[in-house]
Amino acid sequence: MKPKSISEIREIFLNYFKDKSHSFVPSSSLLPAGDPTLLFTTAGMVQFKPFFTGAVELPYTRATSCQKCLRTNDLEIVGRSERHCTFFEMLGNFSFGDYFKEEAIEYALDCSVNHLGFDKEKIWVTVYTDDDEAEKIWLDKGIPKERITRLGKKDNFWGPAGDSGACGPCSELYLDRGVEKGGPDCATSGTCKPGCDCDRFLEFWNIVFNQFNQDTEGNLHPLKQTGIDTGSGLERVGLLLQGVDSVYDTDELRKIISFFEELSGIQYSSENNVAFRVVTDHIRSVLFSIGDGIYPDRTGRGYVIRRLIRRASLFGRKLNFREPFLYKLVDKVIGIYQVRYPELAKNSASLKKTILAEEELFLKTLELGLEKIEVLVQKTKASGKNIFSGADAFLLYGTYGFPAEMTEEIVAEHDLSFDKKGFQEELENDRQFSRESWKVHKVSLMTGLDVEKTEFLGYSSIFEKGNITHLFYDNKPTSVLKEGQKGAVALNKTPFYPEGGGQVGDTGFLRFGKNVFKVLDTQKENDVIIHFGEVLNGEFSTGQELEAEVEPLRRERLRFHHSGTHLLNGALRNLLGDHVLQKGSVVSPEYLRFDFSHPSALTHEEIRKIESWVNESIRKDFAVETKELAIDEAKKTGAVATFGEKYGDKVRVVQMGDASVEFCGGTHVTHTGEIGYFFIKKESSPGAGNRRIEGVCGPAVIETFQNRFAELTEAVQNLNLKIKSELGDEGKNLWITSEIPGPTEIREKLEKEGASAVTFFRDLSETIALKIEENTSLFLKAKKSFESRDFENNSSVIESVFASAIQTSAGKILSATFEDKDPSSLKGLSDNLKVREKNLLVILGSKSSESASVVITCSPELTSKGIHCGNLVKAACTTLGGKGGGKPDMAQGGGKEIQNLDSAIISAVNEAKQILSGERV
Ligand code: ALA
Repeated sequence: MKPKSISEIREIFLNYFKDKSHSFVPSSSLLPAGDPTLLFTTAGMVQFKPFFTGAVELPYTRATSCQKCLRTNDLEIVGRSERHCTFFEMLGNFSFGDYFKEEAIEYALDCSVNHLGFDKEKIWVTVYTDDDEAEKIWLDKGIPKERITRLGKKDNFWGPAGDSGACGPCSELYLDRGVEKGGPDCATSGTCKPGCDCDRFLEFWNIVFNQFNQDTEGNLHPLKQTGIDTGSGLERVGLLLQGVDSVYDTDELRKIISFFEELSGIQYSSENNVAFRVVTDHIRSVLFSIGDGIYPDRTGRGYVIRRLIRRASLFGRKLNFREPFLYKLVDKVIGIYQVRYPELAKNSASLKKTILAEEELFLKTLELGLEKIEVLVQKTKASGKNIFSGADAFLLYGTYGFPAEMTEEIVAEHDLSFDKKGFQEELENDRQFSRESWKVHKVSLMTGLDVEKTEFLGYSSIFEKGNITHLFYDNKPTSVLKEGQKGAVALNKTPFYPEGGGQVGDTGFLRFGKNVFKVLDTQKENDVIIHFGEVLNGEFSTGQELEAEVEPLRRERLRFHHSGTHLLNGALRNLLGDHVLQKGSVVSPEYLRFDFSHPSALTHEEIRKIESWVNESIRKDFAVETKELAIDEAKKTGAVATFGEKYGDKVRVVQMGDASVEFCGGTHVTHTGEIGYFFIKKESSPGAGNRRIEGVCGPAVIETFQNRFAELTEAVQNLNLKIKSELGDEGKNLWITSEIPGPTEIREKLEKEGASAVTFFRDLSETIALKIEENTSLFLKAKKSFESRDFENNSSVIESVFASAIQTSAGKILSATFEDKDPSSLKGLSDNLKVREKNLLVILGSKSSESASVVITCSPELTSKGIHCGNLVKAACTTLGGKGGGKPDMAQGGGKEIQNLDSAIISAVNEAKQILSGERV
């Protein structure tokens, strides 16, 4: 039989389940929607989590998918193992309250044997420790007992994905690849079976019997409906069906390896296969993640992507790649996947750009870092230690950008372990040490010096040459700055923008051959631009000529936010009036903040209009024109000056069509269209008479909406779950079934429609937030009436009140006290008691933390026997320090002295007993 290709396997699997009435559901994004506790989509079931727990209305009860997955928990073995990838595709079939164990097992076996072509005689299975039912089904389907293994929680209990959700025992299918794949003793020991560490048995299909919902504390609650979640790694099935040794030798991954072979001119062999596999795996993970809007970053999800690119760069060196190389294969790799994932091709230009920038950023320090690590390893060994210290790892991280995990992996090759805790402590200390500490130095650096002014070249360039005019160490001028020293460098010319006009200072590198200075902040003192940072390698002396490189992506985001700030200023003056004066602003890579004079809080409508105005100006794609003018000339242009800023004789005027003209020294886009989109995140007041707007531009808008909708999805699901568990089907009308866009959809719509999508997403997020608020309060009301109805009709409550009956000659007296029941619930309960029997007097009380109430009612016959409920209530309420009264057959009242409730009820019962026994008339 001809080996099946990866794409054929995928089709066979999906068609099999489509034939069995499963809806085909496309892969969701690698960024899980509505699950902040989960970094990435790690399994096919992730997009169905709410279907299993019942948090949303089910559009279907059977589904099948081929899901993009990313798992980075055992990153260091990726490349070294034959079957691990960080990115992989998972085939799956799912049942939500539809079929369960029997059919799930039947389908798995039938599909693997009769459709994919696995040899049934070589299939072994595992079941959870006590799952007799699953074992029996396997036996019935013809898998003999000797090929069924029971495994415990570690292997055969799956989930949840993230910190909560559906989970349950599972059963796995393994293929026996022959004793020759076993370990040295496996053939003879007789104990080799699934679960053994050797390579003989390879798991290829997992069936999870979802029975529990795990809460965030780790407690398991039975699911209202059981479900099936299965997962079959596409690359692993490929390995088995194509008869190759590793997932990297399956057709598609092998193709990527051949691209790297071609690019490097090196042949893939057993000597270099780890490096080939690492770059092959990581380029896929990085492409698909960035394609789903997860950009390399300093923290969170983005940091994982950064780590992957850096690990790929590191291993790429073993294939002689010294320059950025991953980005070069973007189009080729996309070519393999674009049929299944057309979104990749649409983004290829921006994918290349992001990957290239990230590779460049790391390569700038990689070489130095590797030399440094060599020195540190030798130092550690020489001192007789076998643990690489946290402080050294932190140095590599902070200075050379080495992720701690990468350092750990490198030092392990030198037989050193790694002090993770020490590293964390260093990281924590560093967080305390803010940028502020650089600024402290700034004030006095130039005192008394005959200074040469710096020419700023950063408007048109981010890479320039310049000569060192001054060096500073420990706050004082110096002629040399040595390796490891933190200090400051002034140049005669630089592209680095010094903090000013709200825009924060640039970061980047200064180089002279192999001598490298890392710039962490740039400030200006009088006319001198000073770069603050640290010497990473070599040393620097005054007079040297350096190459100065600004960090490009950070600068790009700064430009978006600075130009966005001008448009915002324009919008405010146009829409609110000329009284709007800029009172201060912050332009950072992450966001912009703008303070201005305005007497009152902005209305929702005003915010929406301001945002649209800015977006409209972005769409008009005005050219951004800058002119240096004499101050008087400049004033004539009508340019807006910032309140309180000092201007020299000459000022720079920045104009964006008819949207904005301002005095400004900052760095800007060349056309407003580059900004992409603008979104106002928050409006508040920094102090009387002033307002503050915080907003984002460009890619930060995508990230903001992705986070916002993820939070909303989670809130909706939590609310739906609560409604379902408290009100059952009766709460259905309160369920929120709105379609909430996922991360990929958000990015695509914004990229396609630009600014107009911002208004759409703003409105949608507000509508959903409002709906959540409304339905939460409706739910709380419904819950209350549900509880009281439940109480009134609850047969065990009714029975227990009857059990208190005191029989008199004229009829029965029933009495009881409760907590936190309102009078109408007590009345409802009385009515339900009275329909059961005639001649009843019912005396009920309830107390809350603040007050007590009493309700007394009787069957009509008893009023002629001398009962007057109004009088009984009146007496009881006096005991409670309150008031009450009513008709002969129905009365109510209450008081604040809750501690007297029991005695008030007992007195009423005694009084009534006397009347009904004829002892009193
Ligand atoms: N969700 C299960 C797994 O990932 C099927 O193995």
